[in-house]
Amino acid sequence: MEHPIHPISRREQTNRRSFLKGGAVAAGAATMSTGLLGSPANLFGHEGPEEKSGRLTPGDAALLRFAAAAEILETDFWVQYNELDGVPNTSEVPGGSGNTPYTTALQKLDMDMPQYVHDNTDDEFTHQNFLNAYLVSKGAAPVSLERFRTPNIPGSTATGSSGKLRLTNLTQLTVDTSWWVRYRNGDHNPDLEPGFTFLQAVPDLNNGQHTAIPRTDADTSDPNFLQAIANTAGFHFATIEQGGTSLYPAMAQRATHVEVLRILISIGPTETMHFQTWQDKAGNAPMLTAVDPVTSVSVSFPDLTPDSTSEDLKANLIMPEPCPFISPNLPRCSVIRPTETKDIAKGVVKFLTDMGLFIGQSPAFFDFMHDLAEDADEAHRGF
Ligand SMILES: [Fe+2]
Ligand SMILES: [Fe+2]
Repeated sequence: MEHPIHPISRREQTNRRSFLKGGAVAAGAATMSTGLLGSPANLFGHEGPEEKSGRLTPGDAALLRFAAAAEILETDFWVQYNELDGVPNTSEVPGGSGNTPYTTALQKLDMDMPQYVHDNTDDEFTHQNFLNAYLVSKGAAPVSLERFRTPNIPGSTATGSSGKLRLTNLTQLTVDTSWWVRYRNGDHNPDLEPGFTFLQAVPDLNNGQHTAIPRTDADTSDPNFLQAIANTAGFHFATIEQGGTSLYPAMAQRATHVEVLRILISIGPTETMHFQTWQDKAGNAPMLTAVDPVTSVSVSFPDLTPDSTSEDLKANLIMPEPCPFISPNLPRCSVIRPTETKDIAKGVVKFLTDMGLFIGQSPAFFDFMHDLAEDADEAHRGF
């Protein structure tokens, strides 16, 4: 039982927020709740020092805590979408009252978009709620980002927005759409070729800053620009959910307890279901060119219809093209990619930061997220 001692002393020296501090609280809470939960060893199906304490290993807690933070952030921006173009004011997803012009533009991608936006938002609420509740049930500290809600992030003031303070910024996005080709091209897997650059489905979205929501009611006055906003949202939906599609299997490889593994491999595929739905809808985004009247940034959405483009870009090729997996010497396989586990949490923070989702956030927010990511990336099976 020497292994926890070294990390504790190192973390105390660096005065960094530490999951092990949460673990100390965890031990006491778990002792109190053991009678309710039954034998901790039985819960996890095997015995060991950690299991007898009835708490999560520090690594498992860190993996779940990072997932909870990611889900809180997902919930925050999905709520913004739902307020404007989902099905607002339900018991499942409160807030907002809908923006008819924006919703109509989004429905060019699919008439059922408001329902899908609502349901994706609802799912994210349940992901964060479950993960935090599970952490608490094991005596571990949950995650809250409430203190980082800030007026420095410009939410929408358009009709339908609740106007409440946000954690995430949907008005200055740079959307990397290379996942589109990554899943259509069978020759390359980023896990085997980390340096390979996939083409962008919508190259303009990967440059400059674009709003995915109407910032004001003025943004809804030009139908062409409004459609560009809706198209941007359509690609942003899929871009986010493909990130979750990789995050969960990548983290799962370092879970220790089977129940934690079960949580990660049960939530992860729902992200994939979201991704698959959204990439199908993104393929319906009408071809257009528009200029943002506020920033003068131009964006063009290309024609991705099957008759008009290459195999790497065809909108209807939504099933994952088999690609090299594990080794180029093995036969190609239809898989999620990437699933490399090393530094996945820090990679996700970088992915979301590069996207512009946190423009306006405080240094304390970035410190907190980096600490969570560092802890999650230090987790390994058995610790
Ligand atoms: Fe989620
Ligand atoms: Fe998600």
